[in-house]
Amino acid sequence: MILTTERTNARTWPEEQLAELFSEGFPQFITADRLGKEYIGRVREWFADLDLMLVDEDGVPVAGGWGVPIRWDGQVESLPTGYSQTLVQAVEGRERGAEPDTLVICGAIVTPSLKGRGLAGRTLTTLREVGREAGLSRVLAPVRPTTKARYPLTPIDSFMRWRRPDGAALDPWIRTHERMGAQILAGAPASQTMTGTVAEWESWTGLVFPESGEYVIPDGLSLLRIDRDADEGVYQEPNVWMRHA
Ligand SMILES: CC(C)(COP(=O)(O)OP(=O)(O)OC[C@H]1O[C@@H](n2cnc3c(N)ncnc32)[C@H](O)[C@@H]1OP(=O)(O)O)[C@@H](O)C(=O)NCCC(=O)NCCS
Repeated sequence: MILTTERTNARTWPEEQLAELFSEGFPQFITADRLGKEYIGRVREWFADLDLMLVDEDGVPVAGGWGVPIRWDGQVESLPTGYSQTLVQAVEGRERGAEPDTLVICGAIVTPSLKGRGLAGRTLTTLREVGREAGLSRVLAPVRPTTKARYPLTPIDSFMRWRRPDGAALDPWIRTHERMGAQILAGAPASQTMTGTVAEWESWTGLVFPESGEYVIPDGLSLLRIDRDADEGVYQEPNVWMRHA
């Protein structure tokens, strides 16, 4: 398959093409990360060179991936807490004029009909190359394990170590990164924090939450904690810090 790479902001993509590309994989509540929302505008504006689409022969975007540059000393102890903190560090680093040295891959998507054919790997490879050309010698990713939602009760530090009998990671998205030479560094149990009112959570999940307490929610990688007195639901999304070779 012949694919070309374009920056996501290079043109206005037809709405139906974007709807198809993003039609699977991200639950509605993913947008309830207040910290992420505060920074995403500046991320899109300033780091557009690290926000790419893979486009097929007909000009249709079939995969995408994006990242941000941060400064990192290579120590596990100084990793950001996860995805949201990475956006904060990238934006604030740029505002301070700090010289970044590390690409953090923040997201990737493959159109549903082409999943499982290695397009994600091609997307990550392209991003790594662009990052290297920009002087980002280290590559990190707060990986969102795609099958973690089937095990919402399991702590991320356990889940990320689960292996198949052949030794490969049980989770396919961790596996893709490992095939590309990445290694697990640490769990990121609170990579993102999503907050909303009880009514918002009910509309995002299609469930009702009659009492305060913890709930398993569709596509939730961990549990939702509902506080009816405060009219608030809080969900912390776990990720896995991986470092590419
Ligand atoms: C995660 C994602 C980007 C992986 O893309 P991909 O191109 O399917 O990745 P790969 O081809 O490397 O496949 C990865 C593994 O998942 C399996 N897989 C995942 N989804 C599959 C599907 N729908 N059909 C078949 N296989 C699938 C593949 O078989 C492969 O397993 P293997 O290690 O045994 O070969 C893609 O599934 C996706 O867009 N998901 C929704 C968004 C998301 O969760 N992104 C990651 C967090 S930002």
